[in-house]
Amino acid sequence: MDSISIDRSRSVGTISRYIFGHFAEHLGRCIYGGIFVGEDSPIPNDQGMRRDVVQAMKNIRVPVLRWPGGCFADEYHWRDGIGPKEARKRMVNTNWGGVVEDNSFGTHEFLELCRQVGCEPYITGNVGSGTVQEMSEWVEYLNSDGDSTVVRERRANGRQDAWGVRFWGVGNESWGCGGNMRPEYYADTYRRYQCFCRTYGKHRLYKIACGPSDADVAWTEVLMKNAAFCMDGLSLHSYTIPGGWDHKNRATEFTREDYFETLALSADMERKIRLHAAVMDRYDPEKRIGLIMDEWGTWFQVEPDTNPGFLYQQNTMRDAMVAAVHFDLFARCCDRLYMANIAQTVNVLQAIILTEGDQMVLTPTYHVFDLYQDHMDARQLDCYIQSERIGTEKYGVAAISASASEKEGRITLTLSNLDPEKAREVEISLRDEAVQQASGRILTGPMDAWNDFGHAPLAVQPYTDFTVRDGRLKAKLPPCSVAELKL
Ligand code: AHR
Repeated sequence: MDSISIDRSRSVGTISRYIFGHFAEHLGRCIYGGIFVGEDSPIPNDQGMRRDVVQAMKNIRVPVLRWPGGCFADEYHWRDGIGPKEARKRMVNTNWGGVVEDNSFGTHEFLELCRQVGCEPYITGNVGSGTVQEMSEWVEYLNSDGDSTVVRERRANGRQDAWGVRFWGVGNESWGCGGNMRPEYYADTYRRYQCFCRTYGKHRLYKIACGPSDADVAWTEVLMKNAAFCMDGLSLHSYTIPGGWDHKNRATEFTREDYFETLALSADMERKIRLHAAVMDRYDPEKRIGLIMDEWGTWFQVEPDTNPGFLYQQNTMRDAMVAAVHFDLFARCCDRLYMANIAQTVNVLQAIILTEGDQMVLTPTYHVFDLYQDHMDARQLDCYIQSERIGTEKYGVAAISASASEKEGRITLTLSNLDPEKAREVEISLRDEAVQQASGRILTGPMDAWNDFGHAPLAVQPYTDFTVRDGRLKAKLPPCSVAELKL
């Protein structure tokens, strides 16, 4: 039998709510069609935002939303997206599918979306093809209440008061699509750009420097050495890509071997985070600077007959397990990891929501966000997990993954059975204390099951397949499942 022992006396820290953050780029059908349909659309909307999607995002208490990219951020010029819509500049989205971007969703629309969802905005400014002045004035437009020409312009566009945007990214993937820079060059560029991103009144920015890809600790080293003094966060991008960048792996058609490769790659994120955290610790032992994993998730072959530049993929229980494994390792790293944003919210990569015209589907990944909600801003608790190693000759993972946290005297335990074939019994105990009672919810289904339009069998259900006796809880977890237990 597998077992989990929760130790209330040991904690790495608080699990920041921003770890359950999201990312929406001008890519494929994420913004246009997925979130924003325009006020004249027959799809029910408020100021152009799809009501169904906004409500779904509210239901899982999305804490923060990153925008406008991604690679798109470094070719986005914010002035193209303000003012009367009919006069807005049209451009070709050269990164994603070569489609026309009419800029009808810009700064005002994004901040209205955040207002409707009830989340904080996280904006990434353009370093790759934008100027220091352009970035500086965007911050002024967003956060100043002074009587400047820029602020008058905002007021003329219908917004009286400063929004007070806090999370501010200075470029995206500056080592790649954001300008192909060397770390030394970017570190200096970062220092310069951030210098002109001012604090207006009480609106101090949380400045996020572009960090490494995957395990590129050399980038982290140079950034920390040269720019730590003027950053609040350092980003990290790392995707789960079984089979590599050829994207041979399909989202819905895969083998047992692919399943375990995917989960083993996800579990390996912890090693990558710790590698970067170790470098950061040398320059910032007080852990003032947050690691911001602002892009993570699965990346598979696009669905047949879709624009390859739109990165549209389905989402199965395999993705749900990937999400659970990530959240568990994020919680274990919460002393350094301050934010994580899944890529992406709607219709792109490991989306939580898929749309087709006026229809909407919640993916298995969405339901994992739902099950983990109560860890937001809770005190992480150490879990000692004893579990069989399962998998194939090449790829192995622990069968059970879990996180525990405590808030207002209540313990939340989320645990997953990664085994795609076998139900597993797990004994759960609290160190030096008795478990009194519990209530539960669960998501479960075959590893390659997914929710489709008109047929969405995967949803969170009440969970009762456990007993509490002699201060211990024994739970039976079906194959491929993620459960939440309140102790
Ligand atoms: O999320 C898709 C793309 O992946 C982003 O635009 C880019 O930052 C990353 O390479």
